[in-house]
Amino acid sequence: MSDALVIARGVRKGYGSGERRVEVLRNLDLEVARGEMLAVAGPSGVGKSTLLHLLGLLDRPDGGELLLFGSDVAALSVEERARWRNRRIGFVFQFHALLPEFTLEENVAMPLLIAGQPRRSALAAAAEQIAAVGLEHRRTHFPDELSGGEQQRGSVARALVAAPELLLADEPTGNLDAANAEALFETFEELHLSRGLTSVIVTHNEALAGRCGRTLRLTGADVEVGCSRT
Ligand SMILES: Nc1ncnc2c1ncn2[C@@H]1O[C@H](COP(=O)(O)OP(=O)(O)OP(=O)(O)O)[C@@H](O)[C@H]1O
Ligand SMILES: [Mg+2]
Repeated sequence: MSDALVIARGVRKGYGSGERRVEVLRNLDLEVARGEMLAVAGPSGVGKSTLLHLLGLLDRPDGGELLLFGSDVAALSVEERARWRNRRIGFVFQFHALLPEFTLEENVAMPLLIAGQPRRSALAAAAEQIAAVGLEHRRTHFPDELSGGEQQRGSVARALVAAPELLLADEPTGNLDAANAEALFETFEELHLSRGLTSVIVTHNEALAGRCGRTLRLTGADVEVGCSRT
């Protein structure tokens, strides 16, 4: 028996029905070990966000088996799914990440507030995480007062604030300049070393993908898990 943090066996996922039916993931087999940093690459529309949504319990597979943290996700109750999303999984969305009516610090504190942590300590933890992504000077700003890259870093801070075991990030450096992209990857790498974070990171940036232990290349027809480095 494998102790991988993520195990997918023959996972299938498509959208729509009849003539409009699109099969996206056909027969995906994947294991992600605890502490691993996996990059996901592939052309636009191939199913990278779809895969992340399944792993983040935001959607359900049509078939196959998906195990997270050693449990079959099909057997989880609605409450357990919600709790895992809140406490064990950090998700960086590809688009539209932050809630417009809350400040950056409130947005970042949100997972802790939802988990019932007192406001004062939740905001203190948020401030620390905001500093870690270099945004301390924008703490009390609202999302529409932030640049695209600042919003993206804010979204990363929110994904990390509850110290998740699994980080799922959908092109987290898509709006960042090279120096900020580099700094963000360094933050991820530190978390892998310091507390054994496991992460799955969609990226079109080959140089950054090369810093992950492995790259999953989705091709649409079949799936190829290649080893870069290590
Ligand atoms: N909710 C949905 N309903 C119908 N089709 C969808 C839905 N979400 C995604 N699709 C389709 O599934 C395919 C895969 O989409 P997905 O968002 O996973 O691609 P991606 O690899 O993340 O692409 P990109 O690099 O452009 O972000 C696309 O062809 C898309 O049109
Ligand atoms: Mg996508």
